[in-house]
Amino acid sequence: MAEVKITKKSMDVIARDSKVMITTTRESYPFVADHANGDFVYDIDGNRFIDFSTFIAVYTMGENGLPEVRRAVKEQVDKLMHSAFTDFYAELPVRFTESLLKMFPSGFGRVFLSNSGTEANEAALKFARLFTKRQYMLAFYGAFHGRSKGSLALTASNFVQRSSFGPYSDTVHVPFAYCYRCPFKQTYPECGFACVDYIKKYPLSKEMNPKDVAAMIVEPIQGEGGYIVPPKDYFKELKSLLDESGILLISDEVQAGYMRTGKFLAMDNFGVTADIYTMAKALGAGLPLGATITRKSLGDIPKGAHASTFGGNLVSVAAANASLSHLKRNANSIKRQIASKSRIIMKRLNSMKERYEIIGDVRGIGLMIGVELVRDKRTKMPAMKERESILGECFANGLLLLPAGTSTIRIIPAATISVEHLEKGLDIFEDAVAHADKGMRRSSRS
Ligand SMILES: Cc1ncc(COP(=O)(O)O)c(C=O)c1O
Repeated sequence: MAEVKITKKSMDVIARDSKVMITTTRESYPFVADHANGDFVYDIDGNRFIDFSTFIAVYTMGENGLPEVRRAVKEQVDKLMHSAFTDFYAELPVRFTESLLKMFPSGFGRVFLSNSGTEANEAALKFARLFTKRQYMLAFYGAFHGRSKGSLALTASNFVQRSSFGPYSDTVHVPFAYCYRCPFKQTYPECGFACVDYIKKYPLSKEMNPKDVAAMIVEPIQGEGGYIVPPKDYFKELKSLLDESGILLISDEVQAGYMRTGKFLAMDNFGVTADIYTMAKALGAGLPLGATITRKSLGDIPKGAHASTFGGNLVSVAAANASLSHLKRNANSIKRQIASKSRIIMKRLNSMKERYEIIGDVRGIGLMIGVELVRDKRTKMPAMKERESILGECFANGLLLLPAGTSTIRIIPAATISVEHLEKGLDIFEDAVAHADKGMRRSSRS
């Protein structure tokens, strides 16, 4: 892989960006996107990168969408882009929604289309309150559900996201099943799910009447919080606790859903059916689309109670429909690809974990994999500085990666990535890990 050369062209864009854009969460390396082709993404300096970020879990089905997705988008742009789906009817969003519902367990029959993950969660929040006539919400520490005000109340991933925007009075957060760093200092399975027991004994006994709680929202695999995979039976335990009091379970599948784990719904990996699902990111295959999917038996939303001008936008839905059709036609081979590439990644990462002190934990399902970096395997002190240097070195050698949580790196390539480029990306990653590991040992000796 040729070494990346960043010129004044990229640096000028970054300087102009910093003058006019309201701060977002830009990475520390200077990637200025230009185009994508096959397994590669290119910056405006012509540097080529293997992409292990899928531009934050969006291009699950392939970089810049599949050719048929782009074709459908172009055709729809020439026909009609926006049809005010809130006020008028259109056939394409209905066809797409009928097709989407076939991916859900029976009993799911209502969908609200929006433009993003946060909007999908806002709708879920409102619907849960409306269906149950209850006002409180339960959510998890480490969770990320979006940044608009309702979703932000559910988010507790990093206080910079919440600070100055409160108060958030309707949500109680509880510890997630983060077994690598168990908040209760216990070990699974001997713990007997102490974290679920805590919800019952504390928030639902001392703080809130369970009958006032509308729903609990959860990411089946916690994403921004650090790619945290709970134990297999965790959600069964949690769901039965919620069912005792009629509290709905909302599965936020924005990052983990849409085949990222090898199953359309990430919650299916845990053998549990939620009451409301939310999706976005990969759903629109590169265009903005969110969806909130509810159990039919929960009821209907009164006319005018919720809507979004661009929800069900024809161009986004054309992309989503083409992508979903492709996924359905090729489901078995996509699943096989995800499973076999997941095995390749896990094998490489687990062998790195044995060789390098800096790799504390490797976890994931399908192509949603996290590597947690530590300064010391015993104390588990997060290796934050080292993570920056690994991300930077990978970038300099042509591999795009994203962080998550305090010291985790996500490995989230597209299902379509070739084994050759997957291995090449892992080689670049391993070289950077080896350097960071060596540097860390050297500094701890001195
Ligand atoms: C699990 C989860 N939910 C919700 C969101 C918010 O999505 P959006 O940025 O499209 O509003 C994200 C974004 O990263 C996410 O990972």
